[in-house]
Amino acid sequence: MEFSTQTSAGLHQVRTAALGVGVFSDGVLTAAAEVIDRASEGAISAVLKSEFKAKAGSHLVLRSLPGVKAERVIVIGLGKQEAYKATGHAAAEQTFANTCITLNVTEGVSALASTECEGTTLRARARALASAALRAGYRYDATRTKDIEPAPRLKKISLWTTRAGNTEARQGLAEGAAIGNGINLARLLGDLPPNVCTPTYLGETAKKLGKDFKSLKVEVLGRKQIEAENMGSFLSVARGSDEPPVFIVMRHTPKNGKTRGKAPIVLVGKGLTFDSGGISIKPSANMDEMKYDMCGAASVLGTMRAVAELELDREVIGIVASCENMPSGRANKPGDVVTSKSGQTIEILNTDAEGRLVLCDALTYAERFKPEAVIDIATLTGACVVALGHVNTGLFSKDDELADQLLSAGRESGDTAWRMPLDDAYQEQLRSNFADIANIGGMPAGSVTAACFLSRFTNAYRWAHLDIAGTAWKGGKEKGATGRPVPMLTQFLLSQTGE
Ligand code: BES
Ligand code: MN
Ligand code: ZN
Repeated sequence: MEFSTQTSAGLHQVRTAALGVGVFSDGVLTAAAEVIDRASEGAISAVLKSEFKAKAGSHLVLRSLPGVKAERVIVIGLGKQEAYKATGHAAAEQTFANTCITLNVTEGVSALASTECEGTTLRARARALASAALRAGYRYDATRTKDIEPAPRLKKISLWTTRAGNTEARQGLAEGAAIGNGINLARLLGDLPPNVCTPTYLGETAKKLGKDFKSLKVEVLGRKQIEAENMGSFLSVARGSDEPPVFIVMRHTPKNGKTRGKAPIVLVGKGLTFDSGGISIKPSANMDEMKYDMCGAASVLGTMRAVAELELDREVIGIVASCENMPSGRANKPGDVVTSKSGQTIEILNTDAEGRLVLCDALTYAERFKPEAVIDIATLTGACVVALGHVNTGLFSKDDELADQLLSAGRESGDTAWRMPLDDAYQEQLRSNFADIANIGGMPAGSVTAACFLSRFTNAYRWAHLDIAGTAWKGGKEKGATGRPVPMLTQFLLSQTGE
């Protein structure tokens, strides 16, 4: 996909297959819509008076308007003007991009970013347009021999802005392209079947990123090296499967040592390429969706790709612990006690609570980087889906500053999180009669006790945990990975460099 800016002509003079302009539901036209309305002698006001309510998420295509050079004008509903924020703008750009794909055009021009929007800059709005276009163009075809729908033809997206905004817009478009590519990598890894996307495959993908981007150094540890690191908890899960586990470490080093004098930020991803539950086996219905249990890992790879393409001026380290959770003669059994890398012993009361067993050793490994902060990303609990549904990622942290930074990065990128509690009072539920800690905390507050478990391994640094069980993929007819939370993480990392 190619991205550019259009600054020259009046908007009605712009020649394009599809021109996007926004309208508020209170009947207020944006300046861009106003230009088109005037040139076409009221075509937009006319539809506003009749069928179009301009609700957020809605759109209408108007063809061959008199006085307008664009073949089609896509009028996009922005909802109420006072409620129009970053998330609303990102959603509007997504509607524009999706409509360009549906209309099967090869190029389009969006004027949406020319409308000021609370909590955004032109640069951030340009970012939203480019990443929306790349997301709209994603098609899964890796394991299909026939296309079910024609391949998207969209090749070029332009952003309409003033001459003064040109440089800022171009910068934002380049950043949005990096983010979009990161999102689509995460989606592809999530969507690939579990017999293709194995731990080994994730390791190979990481190594390939290391070849493609100069700033990335990638190391993939195999079983022997993982054993040498004493990751007894991670290995206990991996042992149940014939697929060998991998432990991936990716390090982004900024050019010319531009680290802003700060310690690295470490991302840790749960990489269960399939979670059958193990001996505490899951029910068969929808078990295929447990191929998505590596979406935390996929978001780490996607974010590292974005960081590398952005040439971010901050040191970022991505860690992935990847294996399968399978029942077998060598699998964990309920009642087993294992020793984690930290030395703490864990009583495994349910082999399906394997994500925390894998992550705890990766979190201990992260200590060696003396990080500024560690963020883990995991499809950790069904309970988080019960609590927050598919709208917000669960955010857990004792550090208010880190939590607030992640929450606002979520709002700015339209990839939102909701803060959950992490009080010490919940820790009691993890008491074990036979080990230092149990791996489950019972029914109440399941996503909180999972986070509490992880917290026992994070005393050496500032830490936040993202439970993406409800947001990493969609089920049903629209089944597919979302690439979340790559937008939030990348926005957070950008904000760490002052952007
Ligand atoms: N990967 C699952 C969590 C999950 C389940 C994510 C459904 C998305 C949809 C995780 O490994 C798991 O099985 N968690 C258990 C924990 C329980 C045994 C304490 C769960 O949520 O049921
Ligand atoms: Mn599980
Ligand atoms: Zn799992």
